[in-house]
Amino acid sequence: MVNSNKPLLQSIATFLHPGIPFPPLHMHTIQTLSNTFYLEIMIDIFPYFSKKILANYISEEKHNVLPFATFCPFFPFPFPVQQTKNLVKRLSSSILSSETCTMGRLDGKVIVLSAGAQGIGRAAAIAFAKEGAQVTATDINGEKLKELDGIAGIKTKVVDVTKKDQVEALAKEHDRVDVLFNIAGFVHHGSILDCEDADWDFTMNVNVRSMYLMSRAFLPKMLARKSGNIINMASVASSIKGVVNRCVYSTSKAAVIGLTKSIAADFIEQGIRCNCVCPGTVDTPSLRGRIEAQPDPEQAYKDFMARQKTGRMCTAEEVAYLCVYLASDESAYVTGTEQIIDGGWRL
Ligand SMILES: NC(=O)c1ccc[n+]([C@@H]2O[C@H](COP(=O)([O-])OP(=O)(O)OC[C@H]3O[C@@H](n4cnc5c(N)ncnc54)[C@H](O)[C@@H]3O)[C@@H](O)[C@H]2O)c1
Repeated sequence: MVNSNKPLLQSIATFLHPGIPFPPLHMHTIQTLSNTFYLEIMIDIFPYFSKKILANYISEEKHNVLPFATFCPFFPFPFPVQQTKNLVKRLSSSILSSETCTMGRLDGKVIVLSAGAQGIGRAAAIAFAKEGAQVTATDINGEKLKELDGIAGIKTKVVDVTKKDQVEALAKEHDRVDVLFNIAGFVHHGSILDCEDADWDFTMNVNVRSMYLMSRAFLPKMLARKSGNIINMASVASSIKGVVNRCVYSTSKAAVIGLTKSIAADFIEQGIRCNCVCPGTVDTPSLRGRIEAQPDPEQAYKDFMARQKTGRMCTAEEVAYLCVYLASDESAYVTGTEQIIDGGWRL
């Protein structure tokens, strides 16, 4: 609906805040309802305090209007609950990311990720939630996923990302997703001669087709809002570096880089960005499992360590810090990139 109060609102805001331009996003979201009109004015008159209250409102998922009612006791009208809730949701990302507000780097963002049960996915889910995001962490491993239950800001759901119906059901459950983080992957050990048809198909299915399914399922809603951010988990073992005994794995991760650049190029003008993360060797349960599975695990560990130019492996938390940056508005101008985090392994 067109807001007929726009000139009046602009004059009030300019009068009260001569130095601060009236935020244009407000104008898009204002409805003709008189109550939301007053809410807009309050946010402009008291930006700092109303942002703090808004942050609490969103992070605690309070579905009543008490914070606003107590903050604005002189409000001329009571707020209708549903309309206030909807307005707060729509305004949240723009208001919370403004410079007058010092809160989490991902406040107000809704993030869905795969492979959240362990390793990098688990570390990313925790890091995102710590920065104020509402995270849906999914994984095929329901038992391990349960360990995240109870952490503020994290919801969990068992999803096999190779199953189209499960992926589509997951997308349907979310009205709005700001960041989709595709992490699930499988490491096959061996050269092309060790790679049977089944190994090839399984790896490409988990590592590449899953990202195709997830991105196709979530993109339409992002496009409808002209805003979205997709992060894909690739690897340095890909088109970046040839690695011994990682034939189908590296092939799949090179495909992830291609998929990332393709999505970034196709939708850049519609407000979508897409980047991938390329770690070197990260100390995760699956890496430990791969070492243990070798005929001589001690030697296998030494071999892994020998290629670490920093003298140590990367931690899952270090990868998660990079992912926080990519998920946040700090990286708003970054798209179509491979973000390498390998301690110089590729050099
Ligand atoms: N660990 C490393 O050294 C390293 C290096 C570079 C890239 N990566 C990539 O990072 C990602 C995560 O690796 P990690 O070592 O942290 O994880 P991990 O192997 O420890 O965990 C992977 C998770 O994915 C889940 N998963 C597997 N198949 C799934 C499916 N079909 N649907 C949903 N979930 C599924 C597993 O249950 C598990 O919880 C992978 O894509 C991996 O290729 C890892």
